[in-house]
Amino acid sequence: MKGLILSGGKGTRLYPLTFTSAKQLIPVANMPVLFRVIQTIRDAGIVDIGIVIGDTGAEIRNAVGDGSAWGVRITYIPQEAPLGLAHAVKISQPFLGDDKFVMFLGDNVIQGGIHALIRQFDGSRYNSQIVLTRVKEAQHYGVAVLRPDGSIERLVEKPKVPPSDLALVGIYMFDASVFKAVNAIQPSARGELEITDAIQWLVTAGYSVFPYIHKGWWVDTGKPIDMLEANSLVLDELTPAILGSIDAESTVDSRVTIGAGAQIINSVVRGPTIIGENTRIVNSYVGPFTSIHHDCVVENAEIERSIVLEHARIADVPARIQDSLIGRRATITRATSRPAAYKLTLGDYSAVGLV
Ligand code: DAU
Repeated sequence: MKGLILSGGKGTRLYPLTFTSAKQLIPVANMPVLFRVIQTIRDAGIVDIGIVIGDTGAEIRNAVGDGSAWGVRITYIPQEAPLGLAHAVKISQPFLGDDKFVMFLGDNVIQGGIHALIRQFDGSRYNSQIVLTRVKEAQHYGVAVLRPDGSIERLVEKPKVPPSDLALVGIYMFDASVFKAVNAIQPSARGELEITDAIQWLVTAGYSVFPYIHKGWWVDTGKPIDMLEANSLVLDELTPAILGSIDAESTVDSRVTIGAGAQIINSVVRGPTIIGENTRIVNSYVGPFTSIHHDCVVENAEIERSIVLEHARIADVPARIQDSLIGRRATITRATSRPAAYKLTLGDYSAVGLV
């Protein structure tokens, strides 16, 4: 079997972070979501992986390389524009050939891996198997309706009134019959070749399409709030390790990971939390569910349930920072010169919540 990761797209809902970076490279618990996807596929025993890339392709190639860091072989498949998930499958046919494959959306984080799913599909005669999970607000996703025998009867992409609570998680298994489907369908009203339409085509043409119901958590990290949720869930499962230094005046919980060269000085750090390499936490409080990446400084500040990317600096901030996503090399400091006012240099589409 082969793997296909979709890592194109624009990531508009994560502006301004995604003006300068691919959304799949935003870290959750200090590791890019895309790296977690590669690991998950590798851990299921698949070593031949194609990655569909778009405008941010150069950055993704740079970060992932040839895959040897994970013991896998990566083939990059450039997509001229984000023309839909089924379009991504279509252009990947030369790489996929006649092999069965698992397609994984590069911005999804899932609990518990895909081992069992891969084994089930590989040993089955299904033409396709799609991962579903029960959700509260199914209108945001592709939604499936099942037949009494458990097979897929119908799929709809982001319906206003969802016909069930079974959402499509971004993981799909196919055999080569999917190429007939992606070549037969037409673009949807939003101008994309939809994978839900391709799977519906398979169902209507009489191919066997079955679900795999995922029971653990799953997050599609499309929006900042989803990134924070994924961050909390992954941190909750992280095995802690202390590689940096903690001075005698600091209190650090048992569920905290501290990277090499990081320093905790006169501070309180509550887990689950991760502090990256060479980051300094000085006279500060770092609360639960926080990921601070490498080479950051947090000094005379309080932060909780947030993600801070590398080289950011947070110093002398009077109020606690919470539920925040702070980009690379961002600085948050107290303005000391008159007039006493908020002085902001914000990227396009930034969002600030003042109290
Ligand atoms: O996350 C689950 C949902 O993913 C499913 O429930 C939906 O049925 C499915 O259509 C998809 O919806 P999204 O709106 O979340 O898809 P998005 O546009 O965010 O794209 C998902 C990933 O695929 C993302 O990493 C970007 C990449 N992509 C997307 C498109 C449209 C490509 O590589 N090429 C593309 O043409």
